Amino acid sequence: MDIFQAIQQRRAVKHYKVNQNMPTADFTALMDAVLLAPTSYNIQHWRFVRVTDTAQREDLKAAAWGQAQVSDAAELFVLCADVNAWNDRPERYVANSPKETQDVLLPMMYGFYNGKEQIQRDEAMRSCGIAAQTMMLAAKGLGYDSCPMVGFDQAKVAELICLPEGHVIAMMIAIGHAEKAAYPRAGQLPLSDVLVENRF
Ligand SMILES: Cc1cc2nc3c(=O)[nH]c(=O)nc-3n(C[C@H](O)[C@H](O)[C@H](O)COP(=O)(O)O)c2cc1C
Repeated sequence: MDIFQAIQQRRAVKHYKVNQNMPTADFTALMDAVLLAPTSYNIQHWRFVRVTDTAQREDLKAAAWGQAQVSDAAELFVLCADVNAWNDRPERYVANSPKETQDVLLPMMYGFYNGKEQIQRDEAMRSCGIAAQTMMLAAKGLGYDSCPMVGFDQAKVAELICLPEGHVIAMMIAIGHAEKAAYPRAGQLPLSDVLVENRF
């Protein structure tokens, strides 16, 4: 599928055909694509909780105030991030770079994030945002629909997935085959409302 078609056709779909599974080949293609999303310093903060357990899906649905896509879609991910990934064996992020590049980048990364909690968290969320859109567009390319979600009780979901210390939840993403099309677009702002030239 053409990239512009995928962007146009990706919609937040709320109603899914039930009892559908994503074939392993599609899951692999999806995740291979997602893992190519860009991150600052190549930190790859994302941690994807793939929820395959039916009871866990039901519990998560309850924590998401009954949103049907949580239990019905073929796949459900809780997209999390390790906020401290910048300082966790960072040599992994430059493993294939020349030694001279590593020697410059690693201290630079440390200085950029060390002691700056807000920036650490912002970065983790940025990584997840880009991964989420990559995932939803890749899903579209594979013939699936998707729905990003933050409409859930964060503390309850954290408890259900045993979210580790130092991690945050960015959103859930449901992926599956639509039972009902998305609602008509709710109202896109005109470009003139959101495009700024040079400075505000
Ligand atoms: C971070 C995020 C959280 C969202 N949370 C929910 C949600 O909890 N439930 C839901 O039905 N839709 C949710 N949405 C979908 C938005 O309502 C939808 O993306 C928006 O209205 C634009 O529609 P479109 O994605 O179909 O173009 C969320 C979208 C984003 C990006």
